[in-house]
Amino acid sequence: MKCVPLHKGLKLYAPAKINLTLEILYRRADGYHQLQTVMQELAYSDLLYLEECPAGRLELICDDPFLPSSEENLALRAASLIQQHYAPHRGAHLALYKKIPVAAGLGGGSSDAATVLKGLNDLWQLNLAPASLQELAARLGSDVPFFLCGGTALAQGRGEIIHPLPPFPRAFVLLVSPPGTELSTPLVYRSLKWDKIKSGEKTANFVQLLRDGTGKSSGDPDLLARLLELMVNDLEAGAFALVRELSPLKKMLQEMGLKPLLSGSGPTFFAISNDHEKLRAAGDELTSRGYRVILTSTK
Ligand code: C5P
Repeated sequence: MKCVPLHKGLKLYAPAKINLTLEILYRRADGYHQLQTVMQELAYSDLLYLEECPAGRLELICDDPFLPSSEENLALRAASLIQQHYAPHRGAHLALYKKIPVAAGLGGGSSDAATVLKGLNDLWQLNLAPASLQELAARLGSDVPFFLCGGTALAQGRGEIIHPLPPFPRAFVLLVSPPGTELSTPLVYRSLKWDKIKSGEKTANFVQLLRDGTGKSSGDPDLLARLLELMVNDLEAGAFALVRELSPLKKMLQEMGLKPLLSGSGPTFFAISNDHEKLRAAGDELTSRGYRVILTSTK
């Protein structure tokens, strides 16, 4: 269904994320994996309009015909959850314009859900405490709580325990994925068959460097390069086992002089640089080879 922009109510941006580090510490008894991950908001967003709807009705329209408009859609599940708990007689109309690729490791669905929670808290004037919103967000998915605060943050637990960090240096970000490829997060975790116990040392070092580096009043010109050296994603092996194009794509990006890393469970790679021209030229080349490319920046 084609969306028609709404003119009353709220207009909100639901940003994408990348994982600058993602380390699995161990597999938990509840089937989840204990994580340490540094998440970073990007200046690339879905667009969401919220408007009051009478008689407790919740409706969603979405411009992506492949996304369900039913309760399977995480944005509508978020609306339903906050309504059930805090506003049983209120209704809302949601219009969602998707820009973030779906099931790409960029957190689009989780960001939409968090934005709906924040937006309905405002639209319905619920004045919920941040802890109440966090609790609802964690029930919707491990990545959802991050998007309540955004910026740069360390996520622990299964990803739902958030510690805001000093901002990562402003830089350009190239996002690249094989066309028409989506990856299911549970499948990636399952294909990894994790049996190690790790301490999350790289993430701890990354966080320390970010805290030390951004604390210096003069600023550290090498900070970005030093942070990029510490990036890691333990989910890469699982994603590479499921999508055979990923390993050669990473190699191709490295041969172009980039430092690619998979975001979340993939299949999107990101490369960060201060050099806009270098990323633009690589992006043009990859587009001509048929890859899906987005050039954006950290937020
Ligand atoms: O929390 P969320 O619903 O986004 O997680 C989707 C699936 O990803 C989980 O059911 C689980 O299989 C896997 N997962 C995991 N460990 C995490 C986060 C997600 O195993 N920390």
